[in-house]
Amino acid sequence: MTTSAKPTYRDDFSSPEDRVEVYKLLRDVFDVDVSPLQELELWDPTYRAFSYLDADGSCVANVATFTLVLIVNGQAVKAMGIQSVATRPAWRGRGLSHDLLRRALLWCDRNTQLTFLMTSIPGFYEPMGFRTIPQFSYVGSKAHRCENVR
Ligand SMILES: CC(C)(COP(=O)(O)OP(=O)(O)OC[C@H]1O[C@@H](n2cnc3c(N)ncnc32)[C@H](O)[C@@H]1OP(=O)(O)O)[C@@H](O)C(=O)NCCC(=O)NCCS
Repeated sequence: MTTSAKPTYRDDFSSPEDRVEVYKLLRDVFDVDVSPLQELELWDPTYRAFSYLDADGSCVANVATFTLVLIVNGQAVKAMGIQSVATRPAWRGRGLSHDLLRRALLWCDRNTQLTFLMTSIPGFYEPMGFRTIPQFSYVGSKAHRCENVR
């Protein structure tokens, strides 16, 4: 199914409750139900959604940002992450995701020094200026129990 109507842009969601249509999109595209985060009031307050909605108010495409501090070369750096990137199948291939990424990246550039994301489709993000860097993990030896610590 495809649709020819023009979707409406929105980035002024006032609360997690206001983003219910975004969560429906994430459930439908990723099969992930984020409603427990809402019930437990665990939403990251820095989460900001950039969305397109259809005429019925259903979210058809979304990109979101969140803020965190990363340690880079020993320095604390305010960074922004990109997540919740999804477009409903009927709306794919018309530039909605890249348009939302552009808008989100403007927001990131105004508010942070570094923007990152984790993805299995790096080729989708490279035209937007992202580059792939290696990911490392560190494993320590087994922890010892301290018997004398009170
Ligand atoms: C990936 C996804 C968000 C793309 O949404 P979209 O609105 O169709 O994307 P756009 O129309 O803005 O595509 C822009 C460009 O990216 C390309 N592109 C789309 N999907 C791509 C993919 N999986 N890998 C590489 N490039 C891709 C398009 O061909 C287009 O290229 P062009 O500008 O040269 O024509 C959508 O397919 C989706 O929701 N997929 C499932 C969820 C997902 O994988 N999300 C990303 C998680 S990190």
